[in-house]
Formats: sequence, structure tokens, C-alpha cells
Amino acid sequence: MSHKSVVVSLATHQHLSFMRDIYAHHVLEGTGSFEEQPPSLNDIEARWQVRESRHQPTLVATCDGQLAGFAYAASHKERSAYRFTVEDSIYIAPEFTGQGVGRALLNELINECTERQFRQMIAAIGGSNNHASIALHEQCGFRSVGVATNVGFKFNSWLDIVYMQRALI
Ligand SMILES: CC(C)(COP(=O)(O)OP(=O)(O)OC[C@H]1O[C@@H](n2cnc3c(N)ncnc32)[C@H](O)[C@@H]1OP(=O)(O)O)[C@@H](O)C(=O)NCCC(=O)NCCS
Repeated sequence: MSHKSVVVSLATHQHLSFMRDIYAHHVLEGTGSFEEQPPSLNDIEARWQVRESRHQPTLVATCDGQLAGFAYAASHKERSAYRFTVEDSIYIAPEFTGQGVGRALLNELINECTERQFRQMIAAIGGSNNHASIALHEQCGFRSVGVATNVGFKFNSWLDIVYMQRALI
């Protein structure tokens, strides 16, 4: 795989429509997300504002100057004792997969969350056959902590969630 020049930065309001478009693709075409209807731009903005209010970072990556993907950390669960644990999400534009963009985003997300005093990061990976996401998380120091079998139903198939976890220290 040839790895190009990837630059990661904090997302701003102007990146929301890019995020909506890339996420819509993965909602409609893949099992990484268990949503089945692409959220609206208003939904994407509302979710972003909740994360911002909780100091949970959202990052975008450019690859050779073009927007190529995004990642964010959100609350793993809502109840207050979970407040030091975040769950990561990463979505790469289809034409930019396999070029190191996901790794650059996840490594920077880990750094940002560590600086912001979060303590644990959870990955809830849609589909046991999501080999790219499982391998990416392993590369970034996550270990498998279990599989919830057949908890999703999308594209006429039952889907697992693979849980992985990494300490942020
Ligand atoms: C999973 C995803 C984020 C990976 O991002 P990416 O930019 O393609 O990954 P990278 O190029 O940074 O690859 C990093 C490592 O992941 C692994 N990997 C990437 N693509 C892979 C594939 N198709 N099969 C197996 N392993 C793969 C490799 O170990 C790779 O390291 P290498 O380049 O040294 O071989 C991306 O494929 C994606 O957006 N998938 C759809 C949405 C999704 O499932 N998101 C995750 C939700 S938890």
C-alpha cells in the first residue's frame, strides 16, 4: 500500500457536510454503522455539538490536500460514571481507504483524548467480518474484550459487535 501525505486536524463547523456525505455512504453501503437511514445535516450538527459540549474531539483528515475521512470520540454510555470512557468512530471516503488515513486519524484521536483526560477508549465494531477496522484497532493498541453475537440485523443478515478497548495513558 502506498501511504500518501495525510494531515489530521480538529473538525470545524465547515466540515459537517463532508462528514454527513461520507457517513451516509457507509450507512447505506456497509455494516460499520448500525444506522440504516443516513442522518440529516441537522442531526450531524446536533451530535457534533453534544460532543463539543463534552470536550470530545472530532477530527478530519486530508490526503494530498483532499478531505479523506473523519473520526470522533463520543460518550460510550450516558450514565455519569462512564464519563471518562469514550467510544471512537472512524469513516474514510471509499476512494481513500487503504492509504493510512484511518491509522493517522485513530492515532491522533487517541492522543487528543489522552490530553483531554479521558481514560479508556472503546471500539464497538460493526460486523465480525470488518477485518479492516479490527486490524486498524489492533495496530493502534486495542485488544479484543468480547463479541456480542447477532445483536444487529442489516442487509438481511444478523451482525455481531466486536468490542475492543485501549487504555489512554
Ligand atoms: C476501517 C477503516 C476506518 C480503515 O481505514 P483505512 O484508512 O482504510 O485504514 P489504513 O489504510 O489506515 O490501514 C491501517 C491498517 O488497517 C488494516 N487494514 C486496512 N484495510 C484493511 C483491509 N481491507 N483488510 C484488512 N486489514 C486492513 C491494515 O493492518 C492497515 O495497516 P497497513 O497499511 O500497515 O497494512 C475504513 O476502511 C472505513 O472507513 N471502513 C468503513 C467504516 C467502518 O467500518 N468504520 C469503523 C467503524 S468502528
